[in-house]
Amino acid sequence: MAATRSRASGRGAARKTATTGTRRGAGKAAGARRPAGKAAPEPAAPGKQAVAGGQHPLMQTLYAEHRHIASVMQLLADQLAAIEAGEPVDTHVVYETMDYMVTWPDRYHHPREDLIYAHAAELDPGLADSVDTLQRDHDNTARAGREVLEQIERWRDGSLPGAGLVKSGRAYIDHLYAHMNSEEKLVFPQIEHTLGAQDWSELAADDQLRPVSDPVFGYRVQREYRNLARKLRRGVRRRVERGTMVEWLSVEALLESLEVLAMARESARNSAGDHLRAAWDDGVQMFRESALTAPWRCAGNNARLGLRLLQDVAEISRDAVDDLSRVNREHKARIRLMDS
Ligand SMILES: [Fe+2]
Ligand SMILES: [Fe+2]
Repeated sequence: MAATRSRASGRGAARKTATTGTRRGAGKAAGARRPAGKAAPEPAAPGKQAVAGGQHPLMQTLYAEHRHIASVMQLLADQLAAIEAGEPVDTHVVYETMDYMVTWPDRYHHPREDLIYAHAAELDPGLADSVDTLQRDHDNTARAGREVLEQIERWRDGSLPGAGLVKSGRAYIDHLYAHMNSEEKLVFPQIEHTLGAQDWSELAADDQLRPVSDPVFGYRVQREYRNLARKLRRGVRRRVERGTMVEWLSVEALLESLEVLAMARESARNSAGDHLRAAWDDGVQMFRESALTAPWRCAGNNARLGLRLLQDVAEISRDAVDDLSRVNREHKARIRLMDS
């Protein structure tokens, strides 16, 4: 999973793409370690690390937790955009997003990463600098998270303007995405390359790396996060509904396009039939008038009718292209309208 994020064109409409992932380590022999002095593997492209067979469950968990964090951050970004726009905001949800961050990722996700990083850095000194930076960043992130949470409380009781919260909230989100991207692009692939089956077994035996149910994304949502969980689920449902609508609109546009083409073909066929009949009728008439000169006059007449047929077909084609462009424009406009 890659927790990439880019800001949408609208102000504050933070749109991230987070997460899917390809798996790394396919074909890696169990217990394989990176030979000393060998160059580190190329970082995977964002969004390309996945969870699949062959990847240790601890790594799968880290990727999954990044996906969860990214979806919570997207929700917070949406709420901040609403605050900025003066739109109604669910203050409970705003609070719960940051409360979740300081309660869960700062208490479980980052400490677990610290343990795995430390183990990998022992085996591969080349990882030490990156690991050290990320571990210090975990402390900074936790501190920043607590500050934003305090600001949310002040904003809720009216002692902090929304603009102040929007600014610090966005800075927190940006920082967290940069942190997760750095992990997924640089450090996770190296860790997976460095740690072998025995290392993972040792790590898995550590009490601090035992699975703990996530209070929002776990099988049972904790009561204090019910607003957050509900909002996240609604967001997922909306995305699914949007997908269905887009598909439906695309099918509708396709059918209309086919109709345009069928009509164009029908028009061209009718026009050709008309010209053929006219050529026949004219030819018969010309033979009646003078059988001697008829062949020459017919040839001239047919050439003229043929040219007119080509002009008709060209006009029909132009109309069809115009109609197809219109269908395409309307299709895009409907999708834009749906997204607005
Ligand atoms: Fe981290
Ligand atoms: Fe992380």
